[in-house]
Amino acid sequence: MTVTMASLSLKKVSSAWIITILTLFLAAIIMGILMRLNQGNDIKLSTNGFYTTMTTHGLTMIGIWTVAGLVGIHYLMSRYVKVSTRVNVFALVLTIIGVIMIWISTFFGNFHAGWTFLYPLPLYTAWAKWATPLFLFGLAVLGVAWFVWSVKMMTEILKRYSIKQIFAWQHLSKKEPEVSTPPFILIATVSLVGIILCLITEFILLVLFFAEYYSNGSFKNDPLLMKNLTYFFGHTLANEALYLGVALLYELLPEVSGRPKFKTTWYIALAWNCTMVFVLTAFFHHLYMDFVQPVGFQMVGQLASYFASIPAAAVSALSVIFLVYGNKIKWSLTNILFFIGVIGWMIGGIGAVIDATISNNMVLHNTLWVPAHFHTYNAMGNVLFCLAFFWWVANEFAGSQETTKKNTATIAMLLIGGFGFVLMFYLGGADSVPRRFSTYPSEFSAGISYATTAAVFATVYFVAMAMIFIEIVRKCIRVFYSS
Ligand code: HEM
Repeated sequence: MTVTMASLSLKKVSSAWIITILTLFLAAIIMGILMRLNQGNDIKLSTNGFYTTMTTHGLTMIGIWTVAGLVGIHYLMSRYVKVSTRVNVFALVLTIIGVIMIWISTFFGNFHAGWTFLYPLPLYTAWAKWATPLFLFGLAVLGVAWFVWSVKMMTEILKRYSIKQIFAWQHLSKKEPEVSTPPFILIATVSLVGIILCLITEFILLVLFFAEYYSNGSFKNDPLLMKNLTYFFGHTLANEALYLGVALLYELLPEVSGRPKFKTTWYIALAWNCTMVFVLTAFFHHLYMDFVQPVGFQMVGQLASYFASIPAAAVSALSVIFLVYGNKIKWSLTNILFFIGVIGWMIGGIGAVIDATISNNMVLHNTLWVPAHFHTYNAMGNVLFCLAFFWWVANEFAGSQETTKKNTATIAMLLIGGFGFVLMFYLGGADSVPRRFSTYPSEFSAGISYATTAAVFATVYFVAMAMIFIEIVRKCIRVFYSS
């Protein structure tokens, strides 16, 4: 496979994305720290203020790290297939518009139904009346942007590879295949298919919301159906975002480590095909407490949660261990971030599987264990995969990849701040402290000191991120002056 150079226009739009994403990331971390300080009684936000911050933080984080993965795979995909910079720009413009609409609905309209905006909350307007439609239309704008972009990428892949090849099915037979599917193409395909299905579900969900909102009470939705649709959309999207990050890892980690490229084998092909199915059905674990949900779905939820984590996570972790073990590796911040990201992904994954076990969920449901596991595989997993790509691509823009082991202080702060911050969530969860409380009543007073300690760790994480931000943005800006 020949590696083709990304065009200057692709570099420019990718730079604009990276600067936008990282700016929003720092703002959203500050929101997170403010929430932890409030829960630790160190500052006083109004109750509405806490929940608008929580809603904006959650949505912004999930949104930016989903598009970060799309930016990365779009850029690297240009090595294999023709990509459309125009659609990329279209997605960037719509994403900025969508984010502005959502931030106006939360910060000015006071909309605060949480990032899950679970039915019927958005329709009980405990905020400015206009904020609900603005929020829902904002989501629609984001949905259109990412749907068009993802479909475009899929069609470009399909122009070069057949259906059988994009899912690497030819690798499942004993014969050596004539055309080999690069692992990057396989994982990007599996994730894009998932994202496209999530976004179609989002459109159905929004149509149902609008139908009820504009019906003047003559149409009512079925709450169980709405909850299933919401979690299929939101939970699955957040999970698929992680796999986009893994696609970046498969493509770049061997290259920056000076090792041969990963190859698709029968077990890699099988693992990712299984993952595609299990990830799409694992969301049922969010409905364990909904006793009207058919029992069969609950069982599917538990089994899919187990099976979703095993193939992709185990195969990827083993691939990374074999890559590093006993080999001379050229360490740089890029592969260090990938490596720490795999560790965060594994720890968060184990936390998720513990919670997805029905008997444990009876105890851990809606405690701080939930933000504990998803912050681990996001803040210390997928964020680091995407940052590794950003770091690598910023160096590419600057014309040289650094290969020395620098940035020790940044890495130390990232590790101490990041894992310390999530540890406080785990301790709170194990102590039965509930999630989404703006302040803790005396029954949950243990949560107060965990929150203050978490705010300190999160600040250390923030400083590490700010240092990485400065380096990356400095290099990205240069692209706009090149010709
Ligand atoms: C150091 C960085 C971060 C800090 C300080 C932080 C802090 C917080 C806090 C305090 C909450 C509310 C917890 C509760 O339920 O009581 C929260 C919720 C949440 N966070 Fe973070 N977070 C950080 C990074 C991230 C990242 C990287 C992501 C995703 C990529 C993320 C996604 C979310 C989501 C989805 C929620 C749930 C919001 C809701 O319940 O509506 N956060 N975060």
